[in-house]
Amino acid sequence: MYQLQQETPADWWEVEALYDLCFAPGRTALSSYRLRDGVPPVAGLSAVLRDPEGPIAAVIRYWPAEVAEHDVLLLGPVAVHPTRQGEGLGALLITETLKEARILGWERVMLVGDEPYYRRFGFRKLDDVVMPPPTNPDRVLGLALVAGAWRGVRGPVTKARGA
Ligand SMILES: CC(C)(COP(=O)(O)OP(=O)(O)OC[C@H]1O[C@@H](n2cnc3c(N)ncnc32)[C@H](O)[C@@H]1OP(=O)(O)O)[C@@H](O)C(=O)NCCC(=O)NCCS
Repeated sequence: MYQLQQETPADWWEVEALYDLCFAPGRTALSSYRLRDGVPPVAGLSAVLRDPEGPIAAVIRYWPAEVAEHDVLLLGPVAVHPTRQGEGLGALLITETLKEARILGWERVMLVGDEPYYRRFGFRKLDDVVMPPPTNPDRVLGLALVAGAWRGVRGPVTKARGA
């Protein structure tokens, strides 16, 4: 019923509108946005789910970042339209794009979010990885796309090189 498509430049403002609808005003003041400022999202991974009528029902974006000079994929924001939540669309977007991330050669992914939701995808708290403040450390979660990829990776999360 829904079509999973890579986000295109033409989708940008429709995606922004869905984020505005799903998140509190001022979402861009969150510290994770400082890692995104001036950095393009990962084009091959950012995706939308459209229903047959055309509007975007759910969206996910990814940004590149670094921890101690290791490349890290930053998942999010992910948002599902309020009338479509609880239908599995968030899970579909996350699992399909993580599969693609593995294919593209990414080794580790992290996010800032609710562990009770993200643990079903394998995300666990990253004890030694520090997001720019203010971030609740309990919400800093990671997943190894390659076995052991987070081992020894510790320190502050910084913008991708060259950004
Ligand atoms: C969070 C969100 C992406 C989940 O997508 P979704 O398509 O609604 O969720 P799914 O259908 O994949 O999964 C539904 C399950 O997740 C649970 N769930 C949803 N949000 C949750 C949360 N924040 N914490 C814990 N569990 C959550 C539901 O209770 C449901 O549980 P069940 O399977 O036991 O019934 C979506 O609800 C959303 O966009 N919310 C507003 C924006 C947001 O909070 N984004 C995430 C930022 S971290």
